[in-house]
Amino acid sequence: MLYGLMTEEINFSYDGGIYPELVRDRAIGHGWGALTHWTMVARGNSAVTISEDETTGPSEALPRSIKVSVTSATEAAPAGLQNDGYWGIPVRPQATYTGSFYAKSDSPSLPVTVSLVNDETGVAAATATIAGVTSEWKQYSFTLKTGELPVTANNHLILTIPRPATLWLNLVSLFPPTYQARPLGNRIDLMEKLAAMHPKFLRLPGGNYLEGNHISERFDWKTTIGPWVDRPTHPGAWGYRSSDGMGLLEFLEWCEDLKIEPVLAVYAGYSMAQEHVEPGPALKPYIEDALDEIEYVTGGPETKWGAERIRNGHAAPFPLHYVEVGNEDWFDRSGSYDGRFAQYFKAIKQRYPQLQVIATAKVKSVTPDVLDEHFYMSAQESLTDAGHYDKADRKGPKIFVGEWATREAEPTPNLEAALGDAAWMTGMERNADLIVMACYAPLFVNVNPGGMQWATDLIGYDVLSSYGSPSYWAQVLFGKYLGTEAVAATLTNAGSRVFVSATRNEKRRKLFVKVVNATSDEAPLSIALEGIGQVKRDAMLITLSGKTPNATNSITHPDAVVPVEHRIEVAGPKFEEKFAPYSINVLELSY
Ligand code: AHR
Repeated sequence: MLYGLMTEEINFSYDGGIYPELVRDRAIGHGWGALTHWTMVARGNSAVTISEDETTGPSEALPRSIKVSVTSATEAAPAGLQNDGYWGIPVRPQATYTGSFYAKSDSPSLPVTVSLVNDETGVAAATATIAGVTSEWKQYSFTLKTGELPVTANNHLILTIPRPATLWLNLVSLFPPTYQARPLGNRIDLMEKLAAMHPKFLRLPGGNYLEGNHISERFDWKTTIGPWVDRPTHPGAWGYRSSDGMGLLEFLEWCEDLKIEPVLAVYAGYSMAQEHVEPGPALKPYIEDALDEIEYVTGGPETKWGAERIRNGHAAPFPLHYVEVGNEDWFDRSGSYDGRFAQYFKAIKQRYPQLQVIATAKVKSVTPDVLDEHFYMSAQESLTDAGHYDKADRKGPKIFVGEWATREAEPTPNLEAALGDAAWMTGMERNADLIVMACYAPLFVNVNPGGMQWATDLIGYDVLSSYGSPSYWAQVLFGKYLGTEAVAATLTNAGSRVFVSATRNEKRRKLFVKVVNATSDEAPLSIALEGIGQVKRDAMLITLSGKTPNATNSITHPDAVVPVEHRIEVAGPKFEEKFAPYSINVLELSY
């Protein structure tokens, strides 16, 4: 379980990121600037205005809509509106896009034409027409198929009508092909990058995103399940509203697609504007919500919330071993976490004794199974503190390093940061008896202007492509080449900027030795494998390195710093190897 993923709605990670909805602000509601990315379209002499209508919407959760008032339009000169997506809408050749919208109209059987149109040329890549929108709110579906055309990012989605009428719209949606073709699933390139990290778990749904700035803005999981039309959306913690398309079930399916398990963080009665719920009777409804959430994840058809999950489209329960109570509750200045945690801990253990319960701050009244500790460090701090857990107390709870990163450069870390990360990971591997899980944060950043709220994020992307930072590649190496147990590894006379860890997989007869050289010089090392008997001659050395600590990857130069594999020969259990300046290395040895 050592390495996993930490996720939250930050830097447009879900909307505009791994949740590949192409229409920005698909849900319309009062006061959240939902029309910012919607503009009028009037061809020829047609005329149209668009506004937010507070009097009609498709559901109780979404009681408002966009009112499209067309006063003049013809087949040849239609009118309507367009959406510009998340910094563009990507169009690829021979691709099928699935779309839908909720609509009603004051004109019987109103046809609505939907097109994906190039910003520069005005040429439609694909078009579909929905025959008859009626006077009752209803969902309409369509498909857009592209032919042979170049890959482009600068496109928009247009909806038009061919005659004067009023059209009300909400939840206009367009999805590209998704990872493993899951209907309404995740973005393919980002999921592939995550899979390459060989993660074991996904910590969800955040981070600050779990808590929200105010209690009313927490991740209230019950409002994130079921049809979109029943999801009211909510303000996220990082300055923009979440569509809640990435709801609880979508998180779980994300885990399923990567064959990993969730580490479920439940809201624990504290939000970041120093709002908290007093332990005792006031906290009970929140604890009930958490127990219901666990039941939604793990329950069978005989349970209320297990049955709800099945109604939402997922028959099988999900595996769950760890539940985390809150996030960074050391920020709660009221001192209420001890009482809150104890109340959650008892309630969860009583109903689900098999679960491991994680605390997010030190508590006294009960002993948590696991304590979540966070570290955001400079490169120097990561190197200096790489032995942080070497002498840590083994009598207390196990440790979950639930957020950590070396923070150098933005929007994504450079090689200097990756070296700090790798040094820090050697420390985690050495102490894997204590550290049960660890995950880097944040995972994602949309690199477009305005996309980033937190500098130094593992994977960067725009609407078309993505890249892994040097720190991402360090994660890939440490996650991919990992044994099932740590073995002792010591360095002598190598200086304070060289680091080592070793793990082995006894079944596969593999030994993985990781060497981090954070110096500007080559590090020639004599390696002695003790207690292993023979080692096979053919081995592999995988190296991530660069000429300077500033070396990095970017959206325009995605592959400047990537791992390189070399086949090497080792003479026996004692051999010499040279490690490049500024390098992160894995020796894969067979025995
Ligand atoms: O990872 C970014 C933020 O850092 C998380 O939301 C929060 O838990 C931490 O303070």
